[in-house]
Amino acid sequence: MTAPSASPPDGFRVVPGRLDRATQEALRDAIRAVVAAAPLYRPTMPRTGKPFSVRMTNCGSLGWVSDQAGYRYQPSHPVTGAPWPPIPPVLLELWQELADYPAPPEACLVNFYEPDARMGLHQDLDEAEFGAPVLSVSLGDTCLFRIGGAKRGDPTRSLRLASGDVVLLGGASRLAFHGVDRIYPSTSTLLSQGGRINLTLRRVSKVIGAIPDPAIVG
Ligand code: SIN
Ligand code: FE2
Repeated sequence: MTAPSASPPDGFRVVPGRLDRATQEALRDAIRAVVAAAPLYRPTMPRTGKPFSVRMTNCGSLGWVSDQAGYRYQPSHPVTGAPWPPIPPVLLELWQELADYPAPPEACLVNFYEPDARMGLHQDLDEAEFGAPVLSVSLGDTCLFRIGGAKRGDPTRSLRLASGDVVLLGGASRLAFHGVDRIYPSTSTLLSQGGRINLTLRRVSKVIGAIPDPAIVG
């Protein structure tokens, strides 16, 4: 008998197939334009300087970056120095429909996974606002996504995320450990060269009068 998989924390929501093919294609093209203005680059880990296996860029007023100095949000691209391009309107609409939060996202991290890229288990902790969910969109090849609890050793559950799927890490799941164990090559025709794009929309700064953070109120 296989062990039962952990149930994910409250507030973890998967919306399979939320974006139809035409919307995925429009979003892919919008992200191509973002990447033309703000090229993908390979960040490095704090302290060790080890390169990430994913390449990244951002759109929005703030972008998430990592280098030997640490993780942080900043208003400009670390290589070109230019401000990040704006978040495509289709993503802002998706946030309005699904995030249940009274202010728009400030950052959209664009992660590009080659077939052999992965992302280790981590928490998204660099925002001042944990009352807003992290909204994540998958495009291109399917991945094996893993989510656990608020502690690193908590049991985890694995699920496949396909092109057009949307995931929300809200409520108690906002601080859940999560990562990407593998990419399944050639599972989508959306990206002509293959690979996977993940877009994560985040609210970084607090909004006065927003819903209290459930993790703090208890
Ligand atoms: C992330 O946690 O930044 C990315 C998650 C994913 O690629 O699905
Ligand atoms: Fe994350």
